[in-house]
Amino acid sequence: MNSALLLANTYGCDYEKTRIAAISHDCAKELSCEVLISIAQSEIMDLDEITLSEPQLLHGPVGMLIAKKDLKITDEDILNAIHYHTTGRMNMTTLEKIIYLADVIEIGRTYHAVEEVRKLSAENLDKAIVVAINNTLRYVISINGLLHPRTIELRNSILLRMKI
Ligand SMILES: [Fe+2]
Repeated sequence: MNSALLLANTYGCDYEKTRIAAISHDCAKELSCEVLISIAQSEIMDLDEITLSEPQLLHGPVGMLIAKKDLKITDEDILNAIHYHTTGRMNMTTLEKIIYLADVIEIGRTYHAVEEVRKLSAENLDKAIVVAINNTLRYVISINGLLHPRTIELRNSILLRMKI
């Protein structure tokens, strides 16, 4: 939440919305893969093959459902920030980008590019997201893991727009 609020301050994002999204974004994080899949299937969510193979990715979309039903959050921007904080997506709002980035720069993160992402996040959200995704891609490739297409779409869309 602290990382998110710092970014909200820098980029003029609504403080209260950021606080609520940051507090609740991982509300499904502790659920088992079986429970995540079961909730997702019962809600007839759009379950792609990659997400089913990597059920931890579901803590974003399932977290959105819990935020809606149990936490009674109705703000679409907050719900989308929770939904897409694991994979990202194209055309993210400022709040979505902040929640996505706060998650990768929070205190305790130790991957090698974290300082660069922290520095960039104070200067340009999109550039910071690209560096964060590059780092994620390198890791996922190193373990021969699956890449979610929404993450690739997000990276491509920023690079095409910014020509960086
Ligand atoms: Fe998360």
